[in-house]
Amino acid sequence: MSAPRHVAVIMDGNGRWAKAKGLPRLMGHRAGADALDRVMHYCRDAGVEFLTVYAFSTENWKRSTEEVSGLMKLLSSFIHKKEKELVGNGIRFRVIGRRTDLSEKLQKEIAALEKKTAGGSFTLVVALSYGGRDEILRAAAKFQGGTEEDFSALLDTAGIPDPDLIVRTSGELRLSNFLLWQAAYAEFYFTDVLWPDFGREEFDKALASFAKRERRMGGRK
Ligand code: IPE
Ligand code: IPE
Ligand code: MG
Repeated sequence: MSAPRHVAVIMDGNGRWAKAKGLPRLMGHRAGADALDRVMHYCRDAGVEFLTVYAFSTENWKRSTEEVSGLMKLLSSFIHKKEKELVGNGIRFRVIGRRTDLSEKLQKEIAALEKKTAGGSFTLVVALSYGGRDEILRAAAKFQGGTEEDFSALLDTAGIPDPDLIVRTSGELRLSNFLLWQAAYAEFYFTDVLWPDFGREEFDKALASFAKRERRMGGRK
């Protein structure tokens, strides 16, 4: 079974997970960070080369200040906690999105971790203050004409292959502004499982489903 080279995940359902347990939303986000940790290792073990996760959208700034600041703190602690593990395991860390929206402190932490992990062979891409439309607009402002490849090279995802498989948890059937350009020929896998509950079994199901797809890319078989 050949694994997708690039898996992208819309990690959705943290809030509902917490609500169902009578917990504050932030506890759901914490459990979501643990799920990310697990899935990163499943991907590496399965031979996936790139894992992109949607952690915070350009629209998520509309949430309460309490939730936004809690999420930002969680991201910063993820960076601190994971540094050793990422460096030790050859995992490259990369952020896509409008990073100037983030605090200067967080921007510096991100840049430092990107630099330290630059040699990694497996890449974890975190979409932060990310919106596909925003990314395309920023690229378009720099574009002076040329090919699709030339345009791709101006996106935040420059150098990263398009996602082969996009997974969305929690039963929502939409992209919510994720990787709009890059998703052109991606395969989709939707599950009702909430992100904090996403484990090995669900991951294997997603890969098994992907393995059965016939990808024609507009050609004929
Ligand atoms: C996804 O979980 C994480 C972020 C958007 C930051 P949600 O917070 O959207 O969880 P639900 O959709 O409310 O359950
Ligand atoms: C998408 O989830 C963004 C992330 C997972 C970070 P949302 O929960 O924000 O999306 P909608 O509002 O349901 O479309
Ligand atoms: Mg949601």
